[in-house]
Amino acid sequence: MRLAINGLEVRFGRRPVVQIDELTLGQAEIVGLAGESGSGKSLTTLAILGLAHTVGATVSGSIRLDGTELTTLSQRDLRELRGRQIAAIFQSPATAFSPVFKVGRVVLGALRLHGMSKAEAAAAAARAMRQVLLPPDLLDRYPAQLSGGQLQRVAIALALALRAEVLLADEPTSALDVTVQAEVLELLRGLREREGMSVLLISHDLAVVAELCDRVAVMQAGRIVEQGPAGQVLSAPQHEYTAELLAAVPRIGAPAPGQPAQEAPAPDGPAG
Ligand SMILES: Nc1ncnc2c1ncn2[C@@H]1O[C@H](COP(=O)(O)OP(=O)(O)OP(=O)(O)O)[C@@H](O)[C@H]1O
Ligand SMILES: [Mg+2]
Repeated sequence: MRLAINGLEVRFGRRPVVQIDELTLGQAEIVGLAGESGSGKSLTTLAILGLAHTVGATVSGSIRLDGTELTTLSQRDLRELRGRQIAAIFQSPATAFSPVFKVGRVVLGALRLHGMSKAEAAAAAARAMRQVLLPPDLLDRYPAQLSGGQLQRVAIALALALRAEVLLADEPTSALDVTVQAEVLELLRGLREREGMSVLLISHDLAVVAELCDRVAVMQAGRIVEQGPAGQVLSAPQHEYTAELLAAVPRIGAPAPGQPAQEAPAPDGPAG
């Protein structure tokens, strides 16, 4: 297991907002974390990154990365680890980039922070930009001169250049329009296939989860109420809450009472 979470609890004061008994992420695996707004998905991400204290939350339990316990690491060691082993992308990529600096400055700065020379960082950044199908000269632009989809690709390129093993993607496509969304999802699929990256994909969109994830965990009020292979959980949910979430997604939703389970066949019958 690359990432193994056991008995994780995240609290604000005495109020627990996340209570996860077990959640794992294997090598080159894409696991979806789904659930309604406020169910604790983002705080789970922050806890994994060792950043929950920055919003005033306290964390207990175990989070292991390749066997190393993260919850007891020093802030210094955690900083070292973020980016290099665990990278994260968020809903609004713009927040990862300062509006007053060219995006390349942020990317090169992060690479240099993790020990690359100026020349190495420049080469790695250009290579990663090409891997996410962007011209490297976009690095010379300011964030406002890139589209949301381009910025999200730059954020992914940075994770690639740092050779992160685990990518935490918190609603990475919710702010993007549908075609750009599909491109970014395809990119994530490629990272897994070509780089063996493991991805924890947080999304309230079960259609996205169905398309991309090997396994899915469904969160409600801070707890995982159901988890398993994505196909199984989404086609035959065991928990009422999962079924409710699915019912809101007509394309993959369970049939309403009295409705056929399958879509009607095309007029010219099933292809054979
Ligand atoms: N800074 C904070 N102080 C107090 N409570 C907070 C704080 N941040 C989050 N919470 C609470 O923690 C719970 C989990 O929030 P979290 O942001 O993890 O939800 P989420 O599943 O990511 O939701 P969304 O889908 O809207 O992003 C919510 O009940 C929220 O109100
Ligand atoms: Mg969130």
